[in-house]
Amino acid sequence: MSSEVKGEPGTVAVESAQQKKGSYVAKQSTQQPKLRIEDLGVTYVDRAGKTTEAVREVTLDIEDKPGCGEIIVFLGPSGCGKSTILKAVAGILPPTRGQVVVDGQPVVDVGRDRGMVFQTYTSFGWLTVRDNVEYGLRLQGIPKEQRRQQSDKYLKAVGLYDFADRYPKDLSGGMKQRVAIARTLINKPKLVLMDEPFGALDPQTRWGMQSLLLDISREEDNTILFVTHDVSEAVYLADTIYVLAPRPTHILHRVDVPFFATRDVGLKSSTEFRNVEKKLLDLIYAPAT
Ligand SMILES: Nc1ncnc2c1ncn2[C@@H]1O[C@H](COP(=O)(O)OP(=O)(O)OP(=O)(O)O)[C@@H](O)[C@H]1O
Ligand SMILES: [Mg+2]
Repeated sequence: MSSEVKGEPGTVAVESAQQKKGSYVAKQSTQQPKLRIEDLGVTYVDRAGKTTEAVREVTLDIEDKPGCGEIIVFLGPSGCGKSTILKAVAGILPPTRGQVVVDGQPVVDVGRDRGMVFQTYTSFGWLTVRDNVEYGLRLQGIPKEQRRQQSDKYLKAVGLYDFADRYPKDLSGGMKQRVAIARTLINKPKLVLMDEPFGALDPQTRWGMQSLLLDISREEDNTILFVTHDVSEAVYLADTIYVLAPRPTHILHRVDVPFFATRDVGLKSSTEFRNVEKKLLDLIYAPAT
């Protein structure tokens, strides 16, 4: 494994896969991590018996740093297997090989400790925006007044307060995605899985949602696994970025993003930020060393 040490501001710490072996294998921690992905492999088999190997040998630990939220980004090309990894962590898709362990418990099913925002819009068409957002709280038997208080907060946060009584069919794609984001975050899952959630948003709304996510991560001390193929979004949000290989995907590099004193839109045009973006692009477009 090759590595670079963190140095001047704007430089990053990188650990890369060994060229011969092809896959980065994380050092496993001795303490119980928040999430452990261990030798994960997923191969799809269709009805005709044709196989597609999507994920090969992904191993990583995500530590829970108490009192501070963590955002881990998976950055990889289209079709490499990013959604497949998230679905395995969500418990929707049983791995072909290896396992996912959350708080010491192997994942065998979906659970309330994990909340997923899917890549495609998933609101319930027969429920209003507010009822969609309150759905999880209703399942937990939270009384109406408390539900309302919480849904007000999250509807405002995603900019949909004025659309609370409308139905998903009256919303644009990006608005539907914001419903899904509010519906997941309102349940305050300790592990939030977000699959390219801001893909359909215009740049301004996207920046707003990225800032919201940073605020929520700080406030709620959760761990967010965030999938994107946007390098700038990855650098802006992440504490750690895993650069993924094309299908069958595996980890090529782990990049620890430097601590930026403030994360706001101004940061994105700073030299420090641009240097980290460039480093990422160099890693993506150059062969692994
Ligand atoms: N249900 C399925 N059955 C068979 N093959 C599948 C299935 N779901 C995904 N695949 C295949 O697995 C590979 C990885 O798919 P996945 O959706 O995980 O990629 P992705 O990285 O999320 O792509 P994108 O960035 O385009 O969303 C692709 O080749 C895809 O065709
Ligand atoms: Mg996907």
